[in-house]
Amino acid sequence: MKTLLVTGGAGFIGSNFIKYILNKYPDYKVVNYDILTYAGNIMNLQDIESFDNYVFVKGDIRNREAVNQVFKSFDVDMVINFAAESHVDRSIEDPEIFLKTNVLGTQVLLDIAKEYWKSNKNDKYCKEFKEGVKFLQVSTDEVYGSLGETGFFKETTPLMPNSPYSASKASADMIVRAYHETFGIPVNITRCSNNYGPYQFPEKLIPLMIINCIDGKDLPVYGDGMQIRDWLHVSDHCSAIDAVLHDGKIGEVYNVGGNNEKANVEIVKKILNYTGKSEDLIKYVKDRLGHDRRYAIDNTKISRELGWNPLYVFEDGIEETIQWYLSNSEWLLNVLSGDYVKYYEKMYDESM
Ligand SMILES: NC(=O)c1ccc[n+]([C@@H]2O[C@H](COP(=O)([O-])OP(=O)(O)OC[C@H]3O[C@@H](n4cnc5c(N)ncnc54)[C@H](O)[C@@H]3O)[C@@H](O)[C@H]2O)c1
Repeated sequence: MKTLLVTGGAGFIGSNFIKYILNKYPDYKVVNYDILTYAGNIMNLQDIESFDNYVFVKGDIRNREAVNQVFKSFDVDMVINFAAESHVDRSIEDPEIFLKTNVLGTQVLLDIAKEYWKSNKNDKYCKEFKEGVKFLQVSTDEVYGSLGETGFFKETTPLMPNSPYSASKASADMIVRAYHETFGIPVNITRCSNNYGPYQFPEKLIPLMIINCIDGKDLPVYGDGMQIRDWLHVSDHCSAIDAVLHDGKIGEVYNVGGNNEKANVEIVKKILNYTGKSEDLIKYVKDRLGHDRRYAIDNTKISRELGWNPLYVFEDGIEETIQWYLSNSEWLLNVLSGDYVKYYEKMYDESM
């Protein structure tokens, strides 16, 4: 039995990943380690709570003692690091927590994994590791910066992050790379485009717009709304991580994207159309500082080397997603009871 330590497993992608992996590999054990920030919600995992091979541990990836204890208690074989502060707007307001969690937290996880997995505990610089171990860093295409009207991000594209969020993720990628090069720890990095699907905290574009539609509120769209993102269904991201976790060549980076470029305003109009609301609800607001114009991923490497390709057709995926939020009002009420409302009302006021 393999034991996977999934950090940030109570968040959007982490919770989808845990369910995906336990369904596909029922003989694996999953330890979900999450501090439960405003974005982490234990309700996301309600349907697997009773599984014998799933355990939730509340904890901080920056807490060396606690992470060490988790490795020892559960004899961890693989780490999939989703834990992060993940919202660009919040990183513009308060960058520090992004550096603490995303960079230093990742370094703590690497340190503990390195010590726990090395085959000779007495050799400080031992570069031999236990069979089958791996540290997978879940990163983002935002580390590459912004594209013009043409071109795609490849794994070899230089890192040019523009927001404190993307800079913290790029820094974490560099630390992961350095721990592989210096200490030999087996790692992979995945850099994925924008995800959509169930259980996304409603501060991100798609769930935020759906909620405002439900409430009949204005839909705030940054700038001209023509920022392009490459949208990928979260379950396709999960299958990509699965492919890299099991077959990714040690030390390699893999880009993951949906071949599905859409302008933000196009997505907003789709949601309005599906929910039967008028486009008059769109309210163009002052653009986000340093807003990247276009992201687009070249999937060739993961597709050719690991045989991974996205399965979701966007039209189906987005309709299914909108329907999921419309049908899960209890979940929405639960997450909305946090600080989200205050945060967004403030942002919206400032933009007028
Ligand atoms: N959402 C996307 O579109 C997207 C795209 C590419 C990559 N990513 C990356 O995927 C990962 C997951 O993204 P998400 O959208 O699910 O984020 P999320 O904000 O929904 O979830 C993050 C989770 O991390 C937990 N967390 C935060 N700080 C922690 C700490 N110090 N210790 C332990 N847990 C902590 C939170 O409680 C939360 O459950 C992130 O690393 C993000 O950078 C996200």
